[in-house]
Amino acid sequence: MANRGNFSGRIGFILAAAGSAVGLGNIWRFPYLAGSNGGAIFLLVYLTCILLLCYPVMVGEIAIGRSANSDAYGSYNKLGGRKWGYLGLFGIMAGIFILSFYNVVAGWAFGYFLHISFGDLLNHQDFGGFFGDYVNDILDVSSVAGLANSNFIFSLVFMALTAIIVSQGIQKGIEAANKIMMPSLYLILIGIIIYSLTLPNAFSGVKFYLIPDFSELKIKTVVDGLKQAFFSLSLGMGALITYGSYLSKKENITSSALVISVADTSVAFFAGLMVFPLVHFLAFKLTIDPQQIGTSGPPLIFVVLPQIFSEMGLILGRIIGGSFFLLVCFAALTSTISLLEVPVAYLVDQKKMKRKNVVWLLALLIFICGLPSMVSQGMIPAFNKLTFYRGQDFLTFIADMSDICLTVGGCLMCIFISRQWGIANMDAELTHGNDGYMSSKTRSFLHITIQWVAPVLLGLLSILIIVEKFFGIDNLI
Ligand code: PFF
Repeated sequence: MANRGNFSGRIGFILAAAGSAVGLGNIWRFPYLAGSNGGAIFLLVYLTCILLLCYPVMVGEIAIGRSANSDAYGSYNKLGGRKWGYLGLFGIMAGIFILSFYNVVAGWAFGYFLHISFGDLLNHQDFGGFFGDYVNDILDVSSVAGLANSNFIFSLVFMALTAIIVSQGIQKGIEAANKIMMPSLYLILIGIIIYSLTLPNAFSGVKFYLIPDFSELKIKTVVDGLKQAFFSLSLGMGALITYGSYLSKKENITSSALVISVADTSVAFFAGLMVFPLVHFLAFKLTIDPQQIGTSGPPLIFVVLPQIFSEMGLILGRIIGGSFFLLVCFAALTSTISLLEVPVAYLVDQKKMKRKNVVWLLALLIFICGLPSMVSQGMIPAFNKLTFYRGQDFLTFIADMSDICLTVGGCLMCIFISRQWGIANMDAELTHGNDGYMSSKTRSFLHITIQWVAPVLLGLLSILIIVEKFFGIDNLI
């Protein structure tokens, strides 16, 4: 295929794929899921899912993409025929849904970065009230300390930043941006962890996070752990098929996937290590029980953390809080570019459209698709309480549907490899750049997991996730 672009080498690919993986999922969702699922026990379940289910799916996706050298649809179509092409299209649609709501949350974080660093958000007394107003009235252009307070504008700017990067292509855009943002992200994260560990009561937070209490292990812990692991590693929707298609045959896929999984998991792990000491510090300051601080749900980083930053005093709060939200923005941006690249690659490869035009067109369309999520936080009541979805809001609905698409997509990908493309073809692809692969233990492990363990468990868990979403799992078990 004519000049589709490629990564300059192993490091570029790993940083871009790890950039896709490291995102709001690690910093926004992982800590609150861990917080509401018993801390350490959730971490244990999560790590098991990564090893047993996610790593094999990741290797499979990258192998499919590199072998076919095409976008998500083109890859399945080329290796498995037209019917399987629909699986690629399913993934592309899932990516569009994810980006539509993901960009809204990224816009919240971008606004918070500006408001904490340059505005007077930290002087607010009522952080819950501020967040409620902020996500509710998306068109509020009144200024808060000289800054417009419109989530509509913040999200639009975020989508434009994503489009600018993706329009520059693989090496000059995606790879270059990740090479700057990923190392910065790690530096900021480590800096904040070191600081938060010096705070009073920090180690009580570390204990909660690291010492498992097995009595907390429930079906919900496993369901939440799995869907979080899939979302976090950007699996099941073709992002890694697309990135894999830009990877040279010289590179070793199994070891690259290992590095990507470790990089992503370490950021989620570190995010917990950053957040729980902060939460326990706040509990100490307010002389309340840490359990009383609402660590469950999205408000964790938008309500609880700003309150903690404000307890640090204005200057330090601005520095630590501003850095924290800059970190969130970097993490989100490295993910939104991968989400946008999936449909872009499809239109560039299949419809022979020009990258620049496609990027801007899709960015605008997906931004518009995100509007229902944006107004679902109170502004338009019909989107705020969906009658067919247990009274939940549209953003939650679309995020939940994406979770289902990812595990179903991962399950079908395993079936595709074992029943259609053939595990021997996957082996042949994995041998490129890895001479010892055929006689390695990794090969046996991948055979067992991709052919049996992953499709069965992913199938079962997908059913459980669907039941949980529509009926509530607590009613069942
Ligand atoms: N992995 C990203 C996160 O954890 O925030 C989310 C994501 C990005 C999911 C890209 C899927 C994807 F293709």
